Amino acid sequence: MNQSSPDHLKRAAAAAAMTFVRPGMKLGLGTGSTAAHFVDLLGAAGHDAPCVPTSEATRVQAARFGLKLATLDDCPNLDLTVDGADEFDDALRLIKGGGGALLREKIVAAASERMIVIADAGKRVKTLGAFPLPVEIDRFGARATRLHVEAAARELGLQGEITPREKVGAPFITDGGHLILDCAFGAIPEPEALASRLNAIPGVVEHGLFIGLATTILCAGENGVDVLGKAA
Ligand code: A5P
Repeated sequence: MNQSSPDHLKRAAAAAAMTFVRPGMKLGLGTGSTAAHFVDLLGAAGHDAPCVPTSEATRVQAARFGLKLATLDDCPNLDLTVDGADEFDDALRLIKGGGGALLREKIVAAASERMIVIADAGKRVKTLGAFPLPVEIDRFGARATRLHVEAAARELGLQGEITPREKVGAPFITDGGHLILDCAFGAIPEPEALASRLNAIPGVVEHGLFIGLATTILCAGENGVDVLGKAA
């Protein structure tokens, strides 16, 4: 494998996250190609404490590797969640949901004492928003909800295409049975303001702005893994 390929960097970030795992820790397992490396390494290490997956895809992968699966109802307080991100800034704010798992990812992260994000350096940005923001909405009233999302964005000076996500020509449906709007706003100078506007829209189930959740970001680049936030 090309040593500088993003996949190699994802693996390096996942390996760095393994150094934070202790026997007996109850873990949240993220979703996506980077988190999949972590699940792989965790399975190989034989971690035998309960793990809560953030998606059906991760649940299947974790079961295959013999990890002990639990639900948040079994374990409402987790020690650590390790997950990927689509974008992050130096204030440890994230955009997530590129894989459509943002709702469960946010619930699991919020139930965790600590959230470590693993990512390659290409996802580090000065200002969030180059990656279209996923917004998960209820199917009921989807068109009306979309108009509210557009209006909220406009009030904050944000423009750009809002596209209902599709998968092979049909609407993409999340594990929770909802739809996703991919919002290509471009730079989001005030993520907190946008997050609170979106939270106030009734049909919005959740959005991909993760603010105040990540405690550490392990950012893998050509020269090693940078640690942002809490280092130990
Ligand atoms: C899943 O819904 C996302 O939040 C992922 O964590 C995010 O898309 C990162 O995925 P990759 O590790 O595949 O880039």
